[in-house]
Amino acid sequence: MSKDIGRTSRRTVMMGTVGAVGAGALVAGCTTYGRTPDAPAPAPAEGTAPAPAEGTTPAAGDGATEPGGGAALGSVSDVPVGGGRVFGEEQVVVTQPSAGTIRAFSSICTHQGCTVANVSGGTINCTCHGSKFRVADGTVAGGPAPEPLPEHDVVVDGDQIRLR
Ligand code: FES
Repeated sequence: MSKDIGRTSRRTVMMGTVGAVGAGALVAGCTTYGRTPDAPAPAPAEGTAPAPAEGTTPAAGDGATEPGGGAALGSVSDVPVGGGRVFGEEQVVVTQPSAGTIRAFSSICTHQGCTVANVSGGTINCTCHGSKFRVADGTVAGGPAPEPLPEHDVVVDGDQIRLR
């Protein structure tokens, strides 16, 4: 009996928290985690850092998982409002365009496959050749990148951001 009450309470808390954060916190992107774009990316320019090989399964955050949720990336408070954070090991960049709105994108630049370097000035920045992507939707804001960064599915569970 007490187990059921505990589960119900936890689920209620999770749903309440997600609801409080807003529908924007649940991001349903068009890209599945770990999947690469349909067209293979051209080789990175000499002296740049290419993405890890296809087919590898990146480790995530603390590796913790829960039923209905993927690996933990970090907490919402780790992601600055109006900015973002690159999770290099997971090949994901998480942004918070406005308070409580969490978005996630591939950290692999669509130009030649470098890992984006940072998030600043409202853009996700690849320093290999200067491409910039908007934190709000991953679309190209400048540079040679031909396509937006593919979106990843994430869920906010309390303060924790998890991959789906
Ligand atoms: S790989 Fe060229 S700008 Fe990112």
